[in-house]
Amino acid sequence: MLHRPRRNRKSQVIRDMVQENHLFASNLIFPLFIIEGNNLKTEVSSMPGIFRYSIDNLLREVESCMNLGLNSFDLFPNIEESLKDKHATVSYKKGNLYLRAIEEVKKNFPEACVVTDVAMDPYSSDGHDGIVEDGKILNDETLEVLGKMALAHAEAGADIIAPSDMMDGRIGYIRQALDANGFKDVSLMSYTAKYASAFYGPFRDALNSAPKMGDKKSYQMNPANSREALIEAQLDADEGADFLMVKPGLPYLDIIKLLSDNFDLPIAAYNVSGEYAMLKAASQNGWLNEERSIMETLLSFKRAGATSILTYHAKEVLEKGWLK
Ligand code: PBG
Repeated sequence: MLHRPRRNRKSQVIRDMVQENHLFASNLIFPLFIIEGNNLKTEVSSMPGIFRYSIDNLLREVESCMNLGLNSFDLFPNIEESLKDKHATVSYKKGNLYLRAIEEVKKNFPEACVVTDVAMDPYSSDGHDGIVEDGKILNDETLEVLGKMALAHAEAGADIIAPSDMMDGRIGYIRQALDANGFKDVSLMSYTAKYASAFYGPFRDALNSAPKMGDKKSYQMNPANSREALIEAQLDADEGADFLMVKPGLPYLDIIKLLSDNFDLPIAAYNVSGEYAMLKAASQNGWLNEERSIMETLLSFKRAGATSILTYHAKEVLEKGWLK
């Protein structure tokens, strides 16, 4: 036998020498849920170990993450039902929970990278990412709301704005609104290929943001499709996106690979709430080894071609020393 691939696996030193992909703290973005109030920290029942924080506790959480070397955060608000309406007007209202959270994090930790989520659903009385009229989601009317939200986030100090709504044309629309208002340096991380997935369930529990009627299939992508992701990616690249994101992560590794093979922009993967819940449930039952299954999952995103990973595991992998 001339070729014995096992020779390159014969010791830990050699295995490390030929390792092709590595996971670093700098690759990770930690999603954090925020809620109105004081000194609150309430666990999301379907996401053990993940909490909704009032702003005071959010600052403590950000500080403890930064002490571990975790410096990027994506914020998501839980909004009281009474503040929601059809046009998500609270989403860009001065002084709202979300804008205060961005301001406080940037004021206390200027070196943190704050990613913000642009979409109507946490603020929408219909629980949709767009304006609903006669059961239809209105695309162009929704862009106006998204543009106002994005501007409000930029004014509050967002480093990266991540539109997660899947309306057509929103990257170009938001880019123009930002540039016209002097926010040329604020980045756009587009949810480029966001699928109509069952794996968002626990996130909607966390924010109480599930659609009140219907589903999101007229704007989020069909899980059966991959070539369609190339159309979305081309549009986002042309419209000025700085990152292309694929979401969910694990069931869509092929899409991460497809985009990284075809585009030169950095690719982000969103390891979503349902993926987190799956691994937690299995490891809490003793069915999977927690550390190994989580690390294997996160590394698979790097292997597929993602540089940045949004994951609820971000803090624990550092806290538990799994990256060493
Ligand atoms: C909403 C949004 C969702 C997620 C991020 N932004 C859910 C949805 O589209 O219904 C899901 C994240 C997760 O499941 O972790 N615009």
